[in-house]
Amino acid sequence: MRFQNKVVIVTGAAGGIGGAISSRFAAEGAHVIVTDMNGEGAESTASQIRGEGGSARAVASDISNAEGCRAIIDDVIAHEGRIDVICNNAGINRRGNLLSLTPEDWRLSFAVNIDAMFHLCQAVLPHMIEAGGGAIVNTASQWGLYPAPNHIAYNVTKAAVASFTQNLARDYAPSNVRVNAVCPGEIHTPMLEAGVKRSGRTIADLDKLVPFGRIGKPEEVASLVAFLASEEAAFMCGSLVEITGAQAVA
Ligand SMILES: NC(=O)c1ccc[n+]([C@@H]2O[C@H](COP(=O)([O-])OP(=O)(O)OC[C@H]3O[C@@H](n4cnc5c(N)ncnc54)[C@H](O)[C@@H]3O)[C@@H](O)[C@H]2O)c1
Repeated sequence: MRFQNKVVIVTGAAGGIGGAISSRFAAEGAHVIVTDMNGEGAESTASQIRGEGGSARAVASDISNAEGCRAIIDDVIAHEGRIDVICNNAGINRRGNLLSLTPEDWRLSFAVNIDAMFHLCQAVLPHMIEAGGGAIVNTASQWGLYPAPNHIAYNVTKAAVASFTQNLARDYAPSNVRVNAVCPGEIHTPMLEAGVKRSGRTIADLDKLVPFGRIGKPEEVASLVAFLASEEAAFMCGSLVEITGAQAVA
């Protein structure tokens, strides 16, 4: 119960990795704000948590613009009055190389994958600093560190998430705000299923690319996120932690 009496915000929490992160924090005693542009999905994650005896509230918001980001933080401060942890997990993956990608997909990738972190953190940080500290865990990707082919917008925005994490960590460690990022490899979620379908491959094909012999599970990423947000990681700040089943070094 590492998060008893803590308020934790998780973005992109209608399912996939964000859903698993929400359940993990709730299982460890947190009150979780489950937020997503998919309001029905967010409500479903929150009610599943409550059904299992946990504490959660869904907030529907599109974070591809500054107003949508600020609305979440204003809402949480108005209702819960504090924010101990924020997991910036929402993301989109628009496939394409420089010549095939549209300017709209490029712009939306930046809006969701990195601009939202800027707006959310800008709204959250003053509350954490006033409270004497907090933890931020961002979801980057192994592709932000080692780019995969034909995903230039995704890879560039995830590289920006890595740098954003290091910059925020450097600037706010003196205020006791710890900022870290997870860099997952292939994880079995709706986003991955969609990508597999588009490319005409199967999950079994992906399993073979991972030295561990299988792709990862959302719960495995959630466990790392919870560790980074907990006091057990008290001296970790500015770390980009890979969770890839050794794919990143294959
Ligand atoms: N699945 C993987 O293999 C993998 C690998 C590395 C990194 N990641 C990252 O993990 C995170 C979660 O991915 P996932 O695989 O669970 O994907 P997912 O598509 O299952 O979940 C992403 C969630 O983000 C939400 N979202 C998208 N745009 C939004 C917006 N404008 N406003 C609010 N919510 C929005 C979606 O509704 C969705 O619920 C993403 O940042 C992704 O890039 C995933």
